[in-house]
Amino acid sequence: MEIRLQKLIAGSGLSSRRKAEEMIAAGHVTVNGKVVREQGTRVDPERDHVKVNGRHLRAVQPYAYLLLNKPKNVMSTLDDPGGRPTVKHLLPGVTVRVFPVGRLDFDSEGLMLLTNHGDLAQALLHPRYHVPKTYLIKVKGVLTDEEIKTLVRGVELEDGVTSPATVKKVRKAKQNSWLEITIHEGRKHQVKRMLEAVRHPVLKLIRVRFGPLTLEDLAPGEYRYLTDREANALRDLMRSRTDREASKQKTSSRSSRLTPRPSRVSMRRSA
Ligand code: URA
Repeated sequence: MEIRLQKLIAGSGLSSRRKAEEMIAAGHVTVNGKVVREQGTRVDPERDHVKVNGRHLRAVQPYAYLLLNKPKNVMSTLDDPGGRPTVKHLLPGVTVRVFPVGRLDFDSEGLMLLTNHGDLAQALLHPRYHVPKTYLIKVKGVLTDEEIKTLVRGVELEDGVTSPATVKKVRKAKQNSWLEITIHEGRKHQVKRMLEAVRHPVLKLIRVRFGPLTLEDLAPGEYRYLTDREANALRDLMRSRTDREASKQKTSSRSSRLTPRPSRVSMRRSA
């Protein structure tokens, strides 16, 4: 069966889908001895010889899903040109090449999903899928009800108004306070920027939930593999969102095909 070249590369565990596309564009990938730069080229893993930087791809690995509680002062990437500790240092026994799904700031803590399932990662991060992310945050001062309403409705940021959020007061701590905020987007430093906008800077940020996954009692610096139930919940989420997307696209292309012909529409409706 033929699949897209970038999917084959990502599925082999060599890189994320995005990195695979970059390697294709840069001319690092050959199919049957010829450099292929075209994204979306279809290949048959059984028949075609695909090499990246002159080396054959490894056999496709089974999917692995890990949940890590990132401590602060650790990069959420696998490598850091500045030499700071990264999440890779926290996965000593993991032999499968997994990639972080999304980012957390250096000084942020909490739940990170890592996987070699490129399609799943891409779907979970896609802004169109609105996967909810919940953060427990300590902020400077105490927010008024009006400021909370502003966060809930949407805050004007330099890259546009944020989409509706859920905000709950958790507790007060002397001069400061703790809140729980759930957002459905993943813009850079989004939570910190939202709180800056209402003049209550974030002092501490912990991601406690990502879609159906929760941190529960995983200590900072520890990781575990997802249970089958959790991995299935993620796959179901991806499937339900992609199915919804596909049926939306079908409906809109059908209606744009049908709109200029009102008589056919009514005939179909009555059929
Ligand atoms: N929002 C932020 O501002 N920082 C994070 O690390 C995650 C969400």
